[in-house]
Amino acid sequence: MDSQDLQRLKNKYDIIGNDAALNRALETAMAVAPTDLTVLVTGESGVGKENIPKIIHQNSLRKNGKYFAVNCGAIPEGTIDSELFGHERGSFTGAIETRKGYFEEADGGTLFLDEIGELPLTSQAKLLRVLQSGEFIKVGSSKVQKTDVRVIAATNIDLLHQIGKGKFRADLYYRLNTIQIRMPALRDRKEDIYLFFRKFSSDFSEKWGKVKVILTNDAIDLLIGYRWPGNIRELKNVAETVTALESERLTPTSGRCVVDAITLSKYMPKDEGNLLPAVAGESRGDSMPDSDRQMIIKAILDLKREVDDLRARLDSATPEVRSLKAADLGEEAEWQGLGAPVSSGEIGKVVDINPQETQDRDLSLRKSNLEIITKALEKHHGNRKLAAKEVGISERTLYRWIEKYHLD
Ligand SMILES: Nc1ncnc2c1ncn2[C@@H]1O[C@H](COP(=O)(O)OP(=O)(O)OP(=O)(O)O)[C@@H](O)[C@H]1O
Ligand SMILES: [Mg+2]
Repeated sequence: MDSQDLQRLKNKYDIIGNDAALNRALETAMAVAPTDLTVLVTGESGVGKENIPKIIHQNSLRKNGKYFAVNCGAIPEGTIDSELFGHERGSFTGAIETRKGYFEEADGGTLFLDEIGELPLTSQAKLLRVLQSGEFIKVGSSKVQKTDVRVIAATNIDLLHQIGKGKFRADLYYRLNTIQIRMPALRDRKEDIYLFFRKFSSDFSEKWGKVKVILTNDAIDLLIGYRWPGNIRELKNVAETVTALESERLTPTSGRCVVDAITLSKYMPKDEGNLLPAVAGESRGDSMPDSDRQMIIKAILDLKREVDDLRARLDSATPEVRSLKAADLGEEAEWQGLGAPVSSGEIGKVVDINPQETQDRDLSLRKSNLEIITKALEKHHGNRKLAAKEVGISERTLYRWIEKYHLD
């Protein structure tokens, strides 16, 4: 593959970076695409594994067939077999009608099994069978069915380690690992780090009408020297948070928003500086879905707008009004972020408001979030995947809400 083809591929899939290991991964994906080989995509959390199966499918002979991405970690253990292989009517409580699973639906196409390390052992045996012979059996049925599905799996955990602990079948590992595509960690592609920051920051400022953030040289050094355990996802999070919160603090002399290392370090993880908890969560390797993060950022921006509004009102108010007691705006942000952690730090300090008012607002926010979720679930007849998509949150977050508020 020549460098022009590679660049075209990157443009098509919005892939940034010039790293040699990234280029190798993309070239391997293109080389194996036209074969029917099973592929295992490995790499730490947040390195961009999800691009690879799409590239493979869309450049394969199956490109006109169906493509499904299934997150094995997001499906409850009790329903995963039925999701993958389907079920017969009456095979368990709630199985009101016979349902096709992904392996039947994707016949002639590609199935991307993400977080394959989370698959229960019993399902692993069934997966091995379908990989070896194309055969599977619906839950509650005795009829063997055939399917023709190409499987691409991904994991951010070490499957060999899981095999050692008896949690992953060695035979399945070797069957999946026919071709392995390893996505490099961000700390190993230092020359791409600043490129990513600029791209994420400028996309963000364009989207939200913010001033572009410019980093000083020592701030760039800080970015490049950090380990980025949450990889590209973590960097994107930092870039967007910095842009959201710093872009209005313009340097008076230049009228530009220049961020130095000290300011940037406020947004970097605790051991390297002092960090907003929302970013710290990522640094522990928690894989917060992008949709959740987008909601948190939106919540931060909404809060900031409200705070500015309040500040303007207080500025024109009487001294008595100005002395209203402090309240925790961070709590509100948490509800807006559907339970995800967010810092009250910067925001909470800006203005004092009435605690009762905040409490009332918390309750009404919680209520409106519940309403949105309930409506989405109703609209999609209880289909959590579609409901989560509509609300713009991850399936996992939706499950947490359903469990916490007994929505089913
Ligand atoms: N080369 C890239 N260029 C631009 N954005 C990227 C690139 N690689 C990844 N991203 C972005 O980084 C984020 C994380 O990528 P992705 O979801 O594919 O990670 P992952 O490897 O599947 O992580 P996990 O194992 O936690 O699921 C996404 O927002 C994705 O769009
Ligand atoms: Mg992923």
